[in-house]
Amino acid sequence: MSIEPKKQGTAQRQREKGEPLESNRPLPWFLVMSLGALAMWGAFYIASTPSGDDSAYGDQRTVASLRPAVVLAGAAPAVDGKQLFGAKCAACHQGSGLGVAGVFPPVAASEWVLGDEKILANILLHGINGEMVVKGNTYKGAMPAWNALSDDEIAAVLTYIRSDWGNAAPPIKPETIKSQRELTKARTEPYPGGAAIKSDS
Ligand code: HEC
Repeated sequence: MSIEPKKQGTAQRQREKGEPLESNRPLPWFLVMSLGALAMWGAFYIASTPSGDDSAYGDQRTVASLRPAVVLAGAAPAVDGKQLFGAKCAACHQGSGLGVAGVFPPVAASEWVLGDEKILANILLHGINGEMVVKGNTYKGAMPAWNALSDDEIAAVLTYIRSDWGNAAPPIKPETIKSQRELTKARTEPYPGGAAIKSDS
């Protein structure tokens, strides 16, 4: 009995598994090299980049540029009065300055806002709790005192309400607030109404 050579060859070949392909296709060397180079560059970049005090990287604003601009004496107040109004007053007097009919009086075109700056300062420093007439309407509400604000802040917000919504009254200086604060320091309660404020100016 003899086995035919041809048949034997076929059986052996069918038994074999295919050659592993992996070693024939390794990662290209230049890819490995450039990944290594990238990682090294990354580490170097992080280590060599100054952080904290140098603002040349990332957020370029410095501490100084985030502070409100300092304005020299005689110029407009340094505090942003419009921003203060939005934060402290607009909830009641509204961003439009028109207030809420019957509840919060308007500051736009109000005779109190455009009138005597000392009276206006007193209103802010002590608040009001009683009857007052604004533009012909009687209000009987309560406004808290704003004496926790600084002279600069009160001057800025008053200067702002005297100049927006068509209001055009001269600015109020922090010194005016300071002297009214001093003059009326005996007062511990809000003014009991419009008439009382006028008598205290
Ligand atoms: C809680 C609500 C409230 C807030 C906040 C408030 N006010 Fe008033 N304000 C009133 C009320 C109420 C009156 C009227 C008081 C009365 O009826 O006795 C008034 C009166 C006034 C007046 C005199 C009347 C007029 O309309 O001209 C001025 C000026 C004024 N407020 C300015 C301000 C400013 C500036 C701020 C922010 C610093 C402020 N108010 C924050 C409620 C408020």
